[in-house]
Amino acid sequence: MVSFNSLLSCLVVALRLRLGATAALNGKRQTSTVPSFVKDYAPLVWLQSQDPYFPSDIGAQLQHTKPEVNFVVVPNAPNPLTLNNLDSLNAAGANVYLTSVDDITTKPAWLKGVKPDASGKTNGAISTAIIVNDHGSGTVDAFYMYFYAFNYGPPVLGRDVDDHVGDWEHTMVRFLNGKPQAVWFSQHAYGEAFSYNAVEKRGIRPVAYSANGSHANYATTGTHDHTIPGLNLPRGFLEDKCDQGTLWDPTLSAYYYSYNANTKAFAAYDPSYPVAWLNYIGKWGDQQYPNSDPRQREIVPGVDATARFTSGPTGPEDKQLNRTDVCTDYNNLPCVIRPVRGP
Ligand SMILES: *[C@@H]1O[C@H](CO)[C@@H](O)[C@H](O)[C@H]1NC(C)=O
Ligand SMILES: *[C@@H]1O[C@H](CO)[C@@H](O)[C@H](O)[C@H]1NC(C)=O
Repeated sequence: MVSFNSLLSCLVVALRLRLGATAALNGKRQTSTVPSFVKDYAPLVWLQSQDPYFPSDIGAQLQHTKPEVNFVVVPNAPNPLTLNNLDSLNAAGANVYLTSVDDITTKPAWLKGVKPDASGKTNGAISTAIIVNDHGSGTVDAFYMYFYAFNYGPPVLGRDVDDHVGDWEHTMVRFLNGKPQAVWFSQHAYGEAFSYNAVEKRGIRPVAYSANGSHANYATTGTHDHTIPGLNLPRGFLEDKCDQGTLWDPTLSAYYYSYNANTKAFAAYDPSYPVAWLNYIGKWGDQQYPNSDPRQREIVPGVDATARFTSGPTGPEDKQLNRTDVCTDYNNLPCVIRPVRGP
């Protein structure tokens, strides 16, 4: 005879098995959850008050561009291109440029992205990819990758230089045992690192300043001369301007991923996030226009870097996601973690 109690315990065991099976299934699709400290200590970004080029939807860039190599459309590219198939362009090599279908000198509205609302959210535009690299033994790097559809100058000697379609910038926070140690601010070819203690904070969250047009990230407001990479001055030849224009909370409209340095594989923390695009090795904007293009002009003729329009950037996969130091490698510059906040 089966007692009521044993029947009950059978039922409990069956339920447990069932719950366990569901958990295992979820475990397959969703490897883990975003570490809470990655959200808790995520930087907030002040966008410059006069910058018309706001953070932009990563996927929308594909709708306003066509893939080209040497100004010729890539044959047999998937149509439509989406964040779930973008990496198929890798078959055409690393010199694929997502090229604007509009003449960008007509300033199409999509270049301007989406202004964050009062809560700091870029409504309807997923403009950030947060990528977590767990090095093991307690060290975790969280990359906050910011996407803007357009990079404007800023002007040098009153003339536009280095305008380009597509702009990837980032801050990175290095954690040890869940505690933030240092913050990296990407700026043009290089950037700066500060200790977590040194950076400005709102609550416990580091604050970054995105420069007018170039979207280089700085630890302080005001003017930053970046003529010499890694040595910023308050005045100079190549000035970036920052202020407390619009406060942006990149976490509110973001995709979250983990990154495995050994396999170079990205995994989404939520099965609804697209992953394939992270493997795309091409560029996110137009190729630098030749000097024969009437829109193009170089301050110093023959010096590509002084052109009004330069090439679009590569994406997150090319931003040294498995770093030994907090800084990127750049001409063997030593990685200085500044203990005091500065320009
Ligand atoms: C910011 O850039 C815009 C052009 O995008 C320009 O009109 C404005 O003067 C710039 N502001 C500062 C402070 O440089
Ligand atoms: C990733 O970086 C760590 C340093 O934190 C290094 O020991 C490791 O070899 C790197 N892995 C790869 C695959 O480069």
